[in-house]
Amino acid sequence: MRALIVFESMYGNTRLVAEAIGRGLAPAEVILIPASQAAGVDLSNIDLLVVGGPTHVHGMSRPSTRRGAIDAAVTPQHILHLEADAAGNGVREWLDSLHGLTCRAAAFDTRQEGPVLLTGHAAKSIGKHLLEAGADLVSGATSFLVTKSIALVPGEVRRAEAWGAVLLQRSTAAPQHPFLNTGSLDTA
Ligand SMILES: Cc1cc2nc3c(=O)[nH]c(=O)nc-3n(C[C@H](O)[C@H](O)[C@H](O)COP(=O)(O)O)c2cc1C
Repeated sequence: MRALIVFESMYGNTRLVAEAIGRGLAPAEVILIPASQAAGVDLSNIDLLVVGGPTHVHGMSRPSTRRGAIDAAVTPQHILHLEADAAGNGVREWLDSLHGLTCRAAAFDTRQEGPVLLTGHAAKSIGKHLLEAGADLVSGATSFLVTKSIALVPGEVRRAEAWGAVLLQRSTAAPQHPFLNTGSLDTA
């Protein structure tokens, strides 16, 4: 099985989660690509597409929120490390270019810990875009949590690895379930 993980990350947390999901997906062949470099990638030979990004203003990032994240990293109050691809396109722009998918897929995000009603989450919109592009979702939208100081909550890397293993198992099983229609999150 071949899996592609397309992720967006400003400060590195979503990248760490994407890498952990990739480890969980082994022994599948796993390719990880930042969203900013994913334009034109051939999806015809991908069995499972996993897409994730940070939650910005209750949903997927936009150019304006990514600019805000860059500005916030360099103020005296913050010493956040910016990812090399932080200035590029995010998952929203990449998802807009997708159509005619025939693969299975799953969506995740990172968001601040706390009630989802207060934080919002990007993964549900990511999953909706994947479904509309024709993908067959194998999981409900799933969030991985960061602290107020923008570090992954302890245990989230291990949870991401476990989620990757679940995706592998569901991607090799049939039939599929309409996860998005439940409106519920798998976790967090
Ligand atoms: C401009 C901006 C808006 C944000 N809005 C939200 C939000 O609405 N809800 C939330 O839970 N986290 C919010 N966050 C926190 C991000 O979700 C968090 O920084 C991100 O998950 C970290 O992932 P990254 O290190 O991969 O960028 C926001 C962060 C930024 C920079």
